[in-house]
Amino acid sequence: MKNEKEIAAEIREKLALKQPETAVILGSGLSGFTQKLENQQSLKYKDITDFPQTSVSGHKGELIHGYIGNKEIICLNGRFHLYEGHKPQTIARVVRVLKNLGIKRLIVTNAAGSLRRDMAPGTLMIIKDHINFSAQNPLIGPNDDAYGPRFPAMNNAYTEHLRNKCKIIAHKMDIPITEGTYFMVMGPNFETAAEVKAFGILGGDAVGMSTVPEVIAATHCGMEVLGISVITNYAAGLVNNTPTHQETLAEADKASERLSALVTEFIKEEE
Ligand code: HPA
Repeated sequence: MKNEKEIAAEIREKLALKQPETAVILGSGLSGFTQKLENQQSLKYKDITDFPQTSVSGHKGELIHGYIGNKEIICLNGRFHLYEGHKPQTIARVVRVLKNLGIKRLIVTNAAGSLRRDMAPGTLMIIKDHINFSAQNPLIGPNDDAYGPRFPAMNNAYTEHLRNKCKIIAHKMDIPITEGTYFMVMGPNFETAAEVKAFGILGGDAVGMSTVPEVIAATHCGMEVLGISVITNYAAGLVNNTPTHQETLAEADKASERLSALVTEFIKEEE
């Protein structure tokens, strides 16, 4: 089994990478961003030795390399969820491949359900903080000190200056944006109405089934993180409703252009 460094070396060679510093992980129904990448080349996950494989509909499985202006970008179109049966350590492995590619900044996007009646579907929410309710952690097991400490701090996981910059850019582009706490559950079922009520009381603004393991692994190995949720639905029962995956994909698709434009501009304005 190849280690993360060896996998990164294979990717670097197959895609003739220079030095990308930003990677983007795309959530359900949000692959529209890939169209923003110029001079792009991709590798299917299955063509990368020992890279994990994805399975959900709405999630492809390819690593894309391309440019936004003069910024070299890696994009993961297709993410790894715990509910697919992936071990949390598999998610750490993917993030560490990015680390070995020289990635310093990780932009994560996802579709999420609103836990607040005043945050309607279609809203973009910058993730300010998270609550890990998955009872899983990508850092379980022996710690590899080469990546980070045994007990990493997580209170500044969502880098403040990136959040501020994202807000300023959204404002300039006239894209309404809010900020909130992402509440992660393992899934795959949508929540019960009682859970939705409880998660709101606990401090969550949006609920979803991804992102947190990636952010924990990325923070552990010293990456800066920007997270953006697309609110695709009210969480179950909040407005007497029953969410579906089709609704998630349809709403994500509607918001995808706005999100892609925002992330593109954010990357362009990076130092
Ligand atoms: N719950 C959990 N995950 C989700 C939701 C939801 O309502 N919407 C999109 N992802």
